[in-house]
Amino acid sequence: MNYSIIILAAGQGTRMRSQTPKVLHKLCGKPMIHHIIKEAKKLTEDITVVLFHKKELIESYIQNNFQGIQIVTQDHDNFPGTGGAIMHITPKEQRVVVLNGDMPLVTSQDIEKLGSSDADVAITTLKMDNPDGYGRVVTDSEKVLKIVEQKDASQEEKALRLVNAGVYSFDREFMLDALTKIDNNNNQKEYYITDLVSIAVANGKSVKSVLGDIKSFSGVNSKLQLSELEEFMCERINSEHMKNGVTIRLPKTVMIEEGVEFIGECEVESGCVLKGESIIENSTIYANSVVEDATIVDSTVGPMARVRPKSKLLSSHIGNFVETKKSTLKGAKAGHLSYLGDATIDEGSNIGAGTITCNYDGKGKHQTIIGKNVFIGSDTQLVAPVTLHDNTIVAAGTTVTADVKEGALVISRTPQKIVGGFFKKFFQ
Ligand code: UD1
Ligand code: CA
Repeated sequence: MNYSIIILAAGQGTRMRSQTPKVLHKLCGKPMIHHIIKEAKKLTEDITVVLFHKKELIESYIQNNFQGIQIVTQDHDNFPGTGGAIMHITPKEQRVVVLNGDMPLVTSQDIEKLGSSDADVAITTLKMDNPDGYGRVVTDSEKVLKIVEQKDASQEEKALRLVNAGVYSFDREFMLDALTKIDNNNNQKEYYITDLVSIAVANGKSVKSVLGDIKSFSGVNSKLQLSELEEFMCERINSEHMKNGVTIRLPKTVMIEEGVEFIGECEVESGCVLKGESIIENSTIYANSVVEDATIVDSTVGPMARVRPKSKLLSSHIGNFVETKKSTLKGAKAGHLSYLGDATIDEGSNIGAGTITCNYDGKGKHQTIIGKNVFIGSDTQLVAPVTLHDNTIVAAGTTVTADVKEGALVISRTPQKIVGGFFKKFFQ
């Protein structure tokens, strides 16, 4: 079946208490709207996002990250509400699915389940112990009669536990016709999409309800809910990677953002955070390491290492308290306590504990180039721009300020002095 999908994202989201538009708040590294569009894209090319509040910011995010998404601005002044939101859209397909921009856990399977219904209206319901804030679904035995918003509900209706998730599928002709019949005679003076249900019932159209899973249809209204849903999403992402063969130790402590890719056989120990568009291939990330927008192939990282954007570790090892940024290590090792920024380090080279690439001179960033089989002793500073050619040795404690020729030793140390018997003399 072909669907058109409409995503509602014009609301204000005041309860987030944030300058950032609600649908741009992130879960597992990507804004809510990103997750939803990504799932919708699996099913159709006809996707419309309805915007109003902070339209520019949301629109530019969508344009920068997706192609072919229609953006419609709601006529919010004249037609506020979820019904108003879909009033001026002409969907291409016969079946129209309406999703909420603040419901980031909905999957393409959830959408399909709803969209494949042949009813004139299909709604998603949830059974809630605490239905507070939701529209209640009024039924006669199994038959759906109407949806009543909490603000318009009687005491009796408020007690109902079956609620409207806010996700629908409509027959297009029914939807377009019924939208001409809704009004704003309610306590919020808004045009409700939910009124399409009672209109369908009144006109003898078919209405179906699909019981949804709370894990898919939870919405975000506050930062507390955002964190709860992020936990769900994180669990989902980790499970998917584990199904594909990644070993994750204590997955509840591991955060892998949407967009991280694993290839081959990888292992991630507890407490790791893997962010951005990182690619990890046949590698192990030991406990409590952080990786962001980096490529790690046939390598080992950590424990407690930080691999920052544009780092490339190829057949290399970095150990505890090693930080890399925009650096490529190819067949190299940096076991402990180092900062390697704007550097390239070639095969067989060993970076001693406490090596710092001094890449920033207060104005600009500079490159450090380390050739093959370079041995760098502990506690050294490499003042960039600087090149250490192949087969060079840097003595421990050296500050390297000029290029070192192939095969040479570089040493800069204050000569050692020994004063015999000094201790006794000094403390007498
Ligand atoms: C809506 C439903 C309610 C349901 C609940 C589930 C209506 C009238 N009520 O209520 O039955 O239980 O969702 O979360 O639909 N939006 C617009 N334009 C607007 C108003 C809202 O695009 O003028 C968008 C919002 O950005 C949001 C979605 O519609 O993505 C839902 O809006 P919200 O204000 O959260 O609706 P509720 O009052 O919670
Ligand atoms: Ca809501």
